[in-house]
Amino acid sequence: MTSFDKKAPQSPLTAILSALAEEQQGLIELLEQPRKTVHAGRDFWQGTLHGQPVVLALSRIGKVAAATTATALIERFQVSRILFTGVAGGLGDGVEVGDIVVAKDFLQHDMDASPLFPRYEMPLYGRTRFHADAALTALVQAAATATLEHSWPEDGRLAFAGAKVHHGLMASGDQFISGTRESDELRQSLSAAGHHVLAVEMEGAAVAQVCHDYAIPFAAVRTISDRADDNAHTDFPAFVRDIASQYARVIVEKFLGKL
Ligand code: ADE
Repeated sequence: MTSFDKKAPQSPLTAILSALAEEQQGLIELLEQPRKTVHAGRDFWQGTLHGQPVVLALSRIGKVAAATTATALIERFQVSRILFTGVAGGLGDGVEVGDIVVAKDFLQHDMDASPLFPRYEMPLYGRTRFHADAALTALVQAAATATLEHSWPEDGRLAFAGAKVHHGLMASGDQFISGTRESDELRQSLSAAGHHVLAVEMEGAAVAQVCHDYAIPFAAVRTISDRADDNAHTDFPAFVRDIASQYARVIVEKFLGKL
């Protein structure tokens, strides 16, 4: 073999999926040697972030859009792992605005093929939940804890007194939950079926399903922007505008530093 036959070993490519453009913008600004590819009507940003080769993408909103983005990341960019960062509504007791939830597993709260399959079960998978990758998730938990310990010299408003990191079940559905009655009903229906959900959002379970199908490690971290209650429609945009991008930037930095 001649020397030009040898290929330099490539570091695994990490995909960072953001839910919101506000969260992604800060990451794009930090990207070294940025290259943009448009594929499937989406922008994919490749480059180096904190010394790691990454591709940044927006999930877009809802399960199908997020599944398309995840599939493109795997098929077109051959990513080795996917990290999702975003915001979520707190559903579990004690999951408050400013807390961070690291997913242990995911279900689709709007999946109901009963009576053919039990409520919430994923047809033809024989399961209700998809699991986050344990090793990747341990790194995300450490990154989330370090994020809350971060001193935030840039912006004192970020200091949420007593903010916590939670680890557990995340529920996704094609609904923005913004009513106290609606979130109470959702919590009760899920609990009655044995699912004690910490937070609700609109994409994670779909990406988890795609990653399960392709055997790609997946982890997800969500900052709580609202309590999915009657105040959610005002809490959510304020949080996204003022806070979410700073959490995402620090969590991603600390996570990539641990790879
Ligand atoms: N993402 C953030 N808050 C949410 C909510 N209340 N419902 C669904 N997705 C969300």
